[in-house]
This record gives sequence, C-alpha cells and structure tokens, in this order.
Amino acid sequence: MSAAAEILEVREVHKSFGRLRAIDGVTFSLAEKKITILIGPNGSGKTTLVNVISGFYKPDSGDILYRSQKITGWAPHRIYRTGIARTFQVPALFWKLNVLENLLVAEKQNEGENFLRAPFRGLWKKDEEASTVKAARILELLNLSQHWKKQASTLSGGQMKLLEMGRALMSGAELLLLDEPISGVNPTLAHEIFATIVRLRDELGVTFLIVEHRLDIALGYVDQVLAMAYGKIVSSGTPQAVISDPQVIESYLGA
Ligand SMILES: Nc1ncnc2c1ncn2[C@@H]1O[C@H](COP(=O)(O)OP(=O)(O)O)[C@@H](O)[C@H]1O
Ligand SMILES: [Mg+2]
Repeated sequence: MSAAAEILEVREVHKSFGRLRAIDGVTFSLAEKKITILIGPNGSGKTTLVNVISGFYKPDSGDILYRSQKITGWAPHRIYRTGIARTFQVPALFWKLNVLENLLVAEKQNEGENFLRAPFRGLWKKDEEASTVKAARILELLNLSQHWKKQASTLSGGQMKLLEMGRALMSGAELLLLDEPISGVNPTLAHEIFATIVRLRDELGVTFLIVEHRLDIALGYVDQVLAMAYGKIVSSGTPQAVISDPQVIESYLGA
C-alpha cells in the first residue's frame, strides 16, 4: 500500500564503462504525475541514467522498479511496453507518414499480437475508432491538430519533438523520459514545449523525467530537480531548494 504512488524507484544503481563510473550508486524515486528535471554538467551521467532506466544499458548492480515491479535488466521493448518511453535528441519519426498516421502507427506497433483480433471485424473497427479519438485528443493537447495532414518531415524541429511525445503517449506510456527536449529550439517554442509538458501531466496524468540544462527556461515548470555530478545525485528537491544548494552551485552553476 504505497499511498505516495511512486511510479519509479531507482535503487543503488551502478554502471561503469571500463574504469569510468558513469553511474555511481544512484538512488531516487519519482512520484506519479510529477515533472522532474535531471541537471548536471556534461559527462555527469544523465544520459546514461536514462539509458539504464529505459533498458538500453544494463546496470552493473542495483535495481529499478516501475510501479513496484522490478524491471532491472529487461529488454528495451519490454520496458517500453510496460509504460516507460524515452525520446531521443534527434526525434525518431516515420518521415513519409503524416502527423496523424505517425500516432496511429505508434499504437499499432505496441499492440503485440492484437492483430489476431483482425478477423473479428466489428471489434477491429471499434478499436480503429477509439484510436482515432485518442489521437485527436493527443493532437489537441500537443497543439498539433491543425497539422494532422502534414508529412512528418515537413514539421518544425519543435513540432517533431512534440509529435515524438505524442507517439509515446499513443503507445500507452505513462512515464516519459525526455533527453534535452528543447535543445536547439528557440526560447518561445521552448516555453511552449514545457507548457505542453505541464498540460500532459495535468490532463493525462503523465509523469516526466527530463534531462535539461536550460534552467532559465525549465525551472518554472517543474516539481522536482535532481542534480548529478560525477555519476552521483548531489542534490534533490524543489527547484528553489536545489538551485540554492551550495553543492549544486559549486558543481554545476558555479563559475
Ligand atoms: N557507451 C559508452 N561507452 C563509454 N563511455 C560512455 C558511454 N556512454 C557514456 N559514456 C561516458 O559516461 C560518462 C557519462 O556520460 P553521459 O551519461 O552521456 O553524460 P551526460 O548525459 O550527463 O552528459 C561520460 O564520461 C561519457 O563519456
Ligand atoms: Mg547527455
């Protein structure tokens, strides 16, 4: 009965590359329906942590639990199917398909053996309708409704990042790991992207872990900050608490 509804728990995770301790005993948890940013200098282990949680790297030791279930060492597709999706710095989309098709395909891709139901035509049609309704809702939340017919390759960089999030949501993801979602995006659009993230949390109950170094933009939108240095979490808490923590100022914000 964990009333606090922790969606993810990371316990004493280690990951080395040769002699380099990229993740050196990391422990933290994420409360459901909260937005957490992960900050830290280049090379502090942020992307490695995302890779370990999403199954792209196996940790050397430690455990990762999603909704109290141990997912340590699971293959990436299995972790994806259980509800954790990650996005990449370079969005992964079907470039020749339009926006709506990108969403519909994402759901199908994650349905596993559901095609077996195809002979039950009526049932299938109902699914199709439900999918389109769901896609329309997601497009609305992402502010992409008016672009539904556009080929993915013709979207702006910011819209591509939004569509990538939409694909994750169509697949049923409830925890989104975003690696620098506003990198290379102008400040106006960067604020829009964070406002959208807040909307997805509020309207759909999505939980976010976001690697982000542009604190000037991100801090106003987030519930929790985790600060890493040299593979360890050196500070965590509210944005105010973390940015005034001397440890963080020294290792990250300091000159
Ligand atoms: N696949 C890999 N092989 C070897 N070293 C790696 C690999 N991935 C990351 N590293 C190293 O681990 C450290 C942490 O990297 P990374 O997690 O990418 O940091 P960040 O995302 O915080 O900038 C760095 O020193 C990086 O060079
Ligand atoms: Mg990185």
